[in-house]
Amino acid sequence: MTAQNVGIGIIGGGLMGREIAAAIQRWPALVDHPVRPRLTAVCDINPAALSWFDQIDTVSQTTTDYAELLSNPDVDVVYVAVRHDLHEQIYTDVIRAGKDLLAEKPFGIDTKASDLILSALAEHPESFVRCSSEMPFFPGAQRAIDYVRSGAAGPIIEVRSAFLHSSDLDESKPINWKRQAKYCGEAGVMNDLGMHAWHVPLRLGWEPESLTAVLQNLVPQRPGPTGELEECDTWENATVWGWVDGPDGRFPLTVETKRIAPGNKNTWVFEVIGKTGGVRFATSNPKRVEVLSVADVPGVGREQGWTAIEAGSQSVWPTVTGGIFETGFSDAILQMWAVYLAERSGELGDRFGAATPQEAARTHRLYDAALAAGESGRWTSVIR
Ligand SMILES: NC(=O)c1ccc[n+]([C@@H]2O[C@H](COP(=O)([O-])OP(=O)(O)OC[C@H]3O[C@@H](n4cnc5c(N)ncnc54)[C@H](O)[C@@H]3O)[C@@H](O)[C@H]2O)c1
Repeated sequence: MTAQNVGIGIIGGGLMGREIAAAIQRWPALVDHPVRPRLTAVCDINPAALSWFDQIDTVSQTTTDYAELLSNPDVDVVYVAVRHDLHEQIYTDVIRAGKDLLAEKPFGIDTKASDLILSALAEHPESFVRCSSEMPFFPGAQRAIDYVRSGAAGPIIEVRSAFLHSSDLDESKPINWKRQAKYCGEAGVMNDLGMHAWHVPLRLGWEPESLTAVLQNLVPQRPGPTGELEECDTWENATVWGWVDGPDGRFPLTVETKRIAPGNKNTWVFEVIGKTGGVRFATSNPKRVEVLSVADVPGVGREQGWTAIEAGSQSVWPTVTGGIFETGFSDAILQMWAVYLAERSGELGDRFGAATPQEAARTHRLYDAALAAGESGRWTSVIR
């Protein structure tokens, strides 16, 4: 198969910009992929951030002005990884420039911004847009999703989906943009981690019509650049409960997004319990998937129990990595890019795809309801 060359531009060469640049360098790990991406251009307003990209010899343009990147004919797809308050302007400019977009979450700082991005997309339906959410591309997450889709769990009793950090446990950690509502958004941790935790429930059709939530701001002040304490006005932890109408009846869905969950480092959790089975996976143990089943135990009798299986390395798009080998965050990022570019070229088939703009926009409606519920302490309808 002759792979189609696709030029990639990155706007925002920070933590995630570098991660994506490194993932593209690992492209030969993918087997028979229809696309061959080339990182061509990088933009960051901070010239110091650009120098890291000098080591990638396919990069022929570095700039501090993203308009220059958008007028580069060698850029087909733009990945944007900037602060949330900048999403709307940059995403709509990318779409209107006739480029395709892999946007970072939360896809605009709030509902209004995400609706404006959707409007730009409606004006330019030829622009192929998806939103970043890589954790469901861990092989174990894919096994858990496949298990759920098999129906083996039976009528669902309850579901938990969570994304848990503890990076803000250190109260002396200086304030950054993720702790300030004007940059991160009123939804705080939900803007930051929510897409990760909602992607799979939304993809499985599990969107609550109403929900309630508890929101916590656990460290309301942090040292600013001068060492003086500054206000952190975002929610640090959010736990949302909703009722979902499934095909076999109603069940409660719990979605947790926490910046302060001691003991967890970027831990993505997905757990489904049904009347005939169940499945659970957490990235804290990235190869282990546990399946609940009923079996005859010799000398004991018929018992329910969790069986641990190892997921190995293979996720959605096959790789040269040995099937028994271990997996990690950078593999999940590579898989997300593999499915994004395969879907863009019409070659994804029925494989699990990257989060859609509509799914990303739905998360903002869910956060709005959670913010209202957190304030009022009541059950709140999610606006459709
Ligand atoms: N998918 C994930 O797992 C994941 C993880 C972390 C962050 N993110 C998301 O990625 C985005 C960026 O987060 P980050 O942690 O990489 O941030 P960061 O602060 O590390 O990097 C942002 C970069 O954008 C640059 N920038 C700011 N304004 C710009 C402009 N106008 N033009 C070009 N560059 C500009 C900054 O100089 C900085 O280098 C956010 O939306 C965040 O939520 C996603």
